[in-house]
Amino acid sequence: MKIFRSITGWQSWRDGMQARPVGFVPTMGALHQGHLSLVKASLKHNAVSIVSIFINPEQFDDQADFEAYPTDEQRDLDQLKKAGVDAVLLPDAGQIYADDYRFKVTENEFSRHLCGAHRPGHFDGVLTAVMRLLNLVRPDNAYFGEKDYQQLQLIRDMTAAFFIPVNIVGCATVREADGLAMSSRNQHLDTRSRLLAASLYAALKNSRSASEAKEMLLGQGFDVDYVEDIADRRLAAARLGSTRLIDNVEI
Ligand code: PAJ
Repeated sequence: MKIFRSITGWQSWRDGMQARPVGFVPTMGALHQGHLSLVKASLKHNAVSIVSIFINPEQFDDQADFEAYPTDEQRDLDQLKKAGVDAVLLPDAGQIYADDYRFKVTENEFSRHLCGAHRPGHFDGVLTAVMRLLNLVRPDNAYFGEKDYQQLQLIRDMTAAFFIPVNIVGCATVREADGLAMSSRNQHLDTRSRLLAASLYAALKNSRSASEAKEMLLGQGFDVDYVEDIADRRLAAARLGSTRLIDNVEI
């Protein structure tokens, strides 16, 4: 497995790559089975599979969240190597944002709702990083999780709007045995919060309306950012202490 920390090193390898199709899984590391399900989908459908690990500073609206974001580079690399990934891109922020984030992608509608209403600048940061990574990797297929449903929709819309020649593939949410959606941030939950956290999925699944789900969550001690129905999905974000959880289900 090739590991690239330098963008110029990456670019010369990419320029010499003949095999296609190319699959790409962008991540922020601290990999779990959710990430690995995207990697497996890429490995199954592509001749070459690339993973990036880049903790994108521009998508954190809260400095404390950025500083506490879990990292385990060696474990991540071991898992990716074992899975059979061809190359890992591990750029630093100075290389991704050599322009000091002068140029960015801004979306003015959907990104202002749901998570965007509670995390100013978050989705512009996500879209800008993903745009830059897609231009660096030039994949045929790029894999994103349905767990981050709003992110997936915005990335689909952005690549269509900018005529980026990539197929965006959405992958089902991978859950713990009790239903909690896997997330790197789950590591921050203490024992009591971890037990309670599974109620987020249960509330979304077992409610007849968004407002009923919200009542259930408030009753269990969650701080609820939102529960909303959009098209065929019920989506929610709620906090337990300082840990913010998101999830969504099909309705
Ligand atoms: P990160 O949170 O590391 O997630 C990387 C990818 O894994 C995303 O597409 C996310 O939706 C997917 N994923 C996370 N948990 C999942 C789960 N339980 N089941 C299925 N897929 C899951 O999302 C990001 O990083 C960043 O915003 C990024 C897209 C890399 C841009 O910086």
